[in-house]
Amino acid sequence: MMDIRRMGGSRQTLLLLATIAVFYLPRLAQGFDLRPAQKSQPLRMMTADFSKKGKILVLGGTGFLGQTICKRATLEGYSVTSLSRRGLPPDQSSSASSVSKIEYRKGDARDKESITNILQEGGYSGVIHCIGLLFDDASGLGTYNRFVSGSGSLPDADSTYDTITRLSAFNAIDATKEYAKNNQMTAFPFVFTSAAEAGWPDMPGGPQVEQYLAPECMKRYLAAKRQVEAKLMGSQPLLRPVIARPSLIYSLDRPASYLPVGAFFVGNKIGLPFVDRPVTVQSLGNAMVRAISRDNVVGVQRFMDIDQLNE
Ligand SMILES: NC(=O)c1ccc[n+]([C@@H]2O[C@H](COP(=O)([O-])OP(=O)(O)OC[C@H]3O[C@@H](n4cnc5c(N)ncnc54)[C@H](OP(=O)(O)O)[C@@H]3O)[C@@H](O)[C@H]2O)c1
Repeated sequence: MMDIRRMGGSRQTLLLLATIAVFYLPRLAQGFDLRPAQKSQPLRMMTADFSKKGKILVLGGTGFLGQTICKRATLEGYSVTSLSRRGLPPDQSSSASSVSKIEYRKGDARDKESITNILQEGGYSGVIHCIGLLFDDASGLGTYNRFVSGSGSLPDADSTYDTITRLSAFNAIDATKEYAKNNQMTAFPFVFTSAAEAGWPDMPGGPQVEQYLAPECMKRYLAAKRQVEAKLMGSQPLLRPVIARPSLIYSLDRPASYLPVGAFFVGNKIGLPFVDRPVTVQSLGNAMVRAISRDNVVGVQRFMDIDQLNE
């Protein structure tokens, strides 16, 4: 295993830059959305359409990834319920064609009841968790999240990695287990959005990058992701855990991301074992929706698995 400390200074600097890029650039790259956060607006509450495929609950359906997942799911024939604090996505016009098939709910996933109440309505075929935040308050950078979030999501006073990632996902897992149990179901699909870097302990050089180069807030970000992964894997057989581990998520219609995306492609191509290839938001969203109906998809899904799910 390589020892990062013994590497030459320039290589070390490169690695540090790569690490920072892994954590910071993805969201920066998604483009700055400086529009004011929408305060209260009427939610589009449609009567749920119980299609044959059933409904998917998307936690964080107003996010950069969440909006794509919602649209993809409707194209695949699912009815969709989205839960997020804002309720409606920031740019409704971009989802105008499919918005009528998506039922947007306003609520906070840190409150388990808000998830339980939705699931109790019945008819669900799967749950997808894509809630997140880049900078939590403890990092001292919380106010910048609005600018670096791909959807302009704003943290509040209690937005920490522990509450936004761990607690919201723990609530969702517990509520989904109850739903599966009450409906005599097993292997009920639950898809969680983790991050490629959560897999660093298993990658050559990964533990050293995390220990010596990763900023403190990234360590806490990854700790929360790993706690969720562990709980989800332990929720079998009631649930079928699917853990998406993307590195940089990008979209070709956001040219600001080309530079970091390019750097990540190069890092992965030259064989840096702790840099996974970026994935488009479309291919990731598609893979996560497809994973719901494919019983053989279980556990961690890296970029190559995401590719396979897109075939
Ligand atoms: N973007 C990347 O390059 C990247 C890379 C690796 C992993 N990921 C992971 O992918 C996931 C999605 O990221 P993204 O880029 O789509 O982020 P994003 O655009 O900032 O979206 C975050 C979503 O979380 C929702 N949310 C935040 N707090 C909430 C709460 N308390 N209750 C309910 N919903 C809440 C937000 O909606 P409201 O603001 O309306 O509440 C928004 O829908 C995250 O888990 C992230 O860690 C992203």
